[in-house]
Amino acid sequence: MKVMVVGSGGREHAIVKSLKKSSEIDTLYVLPGNGGMAQDAVCVPEIGAKDIDGIVAFAKENGIDFAVVAPDDPLVLGAVDALEEIGVPCFGPRKNAAIIEGSKVFSKNLMKKYNIPTAAYEVFTETDAALQYLQTAPMPAVIKADGLALGKGVIIAENLQDAQAAVKDMMDGGKFGESGRRVVIEEFLTGPEVSVLAFTDGKSMKPMVSSMDHKRAHDGDEGLNTGGMGTVAPNPYYTEEIAKVCMETIFLPTMEAMNAEGRTFKGCLYFGLMLTPKGPKVIEYNCRFGDPETQVVLPLLESDLFTVFRAVAEEKLEETEVRFADGHACCVIMASNGYPEAYKSGFAITCDDGLNAEVFYAGAKLDGEGILRTAGGRVLGVTATAEKLSDAIALAYENVEKIHFENAYCRKDIGARALAAGR
Ligand code: AMP
Ligand code: GLY
Repeated sequence: MKVMVVGSGGREHAIVKSLKKSSEIDTLYVLPGNGGMAQDAVCVPEIGAKDIDGIVAFAKENGIDFAVVAPDDPLVLGAVDALEEIGVPCFGPRKNAAIIEGSKVFSKNLMKKYNIPTAAYEVFTETDAALQYLQTAPMPAVIKADGLALGKGVIIAENLQDAQAAVKDMMDGGKFGESGRRVVIEEFLTGPEVSVLAFTDGKSMKPMVSSMDHKRAHDGDEGLNTGGMGTVAPNPYYTEEIAKVCMETIFLPTMEAMNAEGRTFKGCLYFGLMLTPKGPKVIEYNCRFGDPETQVVLPLLESDLFTVFRAVAEEKLEETEVRFADGHACCVIMASNGYPEAYKSGFAITCDDGLNAEVFYAGAKLDGEGILRTAGGRVLGVTATAEKLSDAIALAYENVEKIHFENAYCRKDIGARALAAGR
């Protein structure tokens, strides 16, 4: 079988490494991929993840048997619809279902209509109305751009002044472009956050092991929001009892709501949850695997990933086993110092002998001489697995010490909160 994966980050590298274990796959392509993945798949750097025409033409020319579309942009743009049109089966939702991430207004209205627990909210298309509403809104207020904004379209405003500035920046100032012309203003929730990725084919839902992201740039959850500086799995706050409540009040109702809307979701549905004092609530949906959640979830997967992907495409998930190991995983992101703001790149990446962890490359590029160099904010993730969380964390950091590039930065406390939660 010839399989292609669309995307270029650490998440895609983790998907590629998992798929590589499948005996059914002869050739694995990744469009565009990155230099760090070159040993694991055939990278096609000239075709970007948003180049739908290029992706379709490549699939046709190379006789691709199955495609995995991993990032939000091509999913929201309809890559799966376009590939299915030429007869290529895919893992990933069609455009009409990817809207669950593509529009926060859509997802909030869906949750309201189907009684799925989430923060109370209002939608605004006019700046004046939004500013008026803020006058009496409780603070902090959470202001969200409607559309995709590279995970940066959420502002938590502590006071009225900051909230007004955020609304003006998004709605009038063009911050986040068209994505911010419409905004959602919602209630500020508190509680531990949990990420749950779930396979679904529209008929059944099989959640993967839970995880905990570390979104802020610095230790102690200080600094700016990033794409994610590290993850651990499972998430100790997500008990079996809570998982049951989530299945009944959130996961299955979401699947059924999408079916009822004529927008059957097939693929990986990502539930960003907050365990509030009033029970678990949805903070956000994503229409794809999370990054860097995937880098801790897939290393714990014992079932064959390709078998699961194909079962989802063929709507046979119910009878397909999705099994995870009992242990723990920790992923530490090594970034370019300065990320998520300005940083320098182009530095050679070297690894000492004797790595005993997985390395998933993201912002890395091979130069003309075949030397791997830094080429992005998040450069790579180091994932270790162990029976105990404390051992997984220690092993991940031990391996971080064996990887070198100038200007490297990582958080030193990935997993510390999970460990302190002590479950
Ligand atoms: P998102 O980009 O939707 O993942 O939001 C980024 C982060 O903002 C989340 O991980 C939460 O920590 C925080 N956040 C989003 N919505 C809320 C809310 N209603 N209450 C409190 N925190 C929130
Ligand atoms: N780690 C958060 C996300 O993938 O959106």
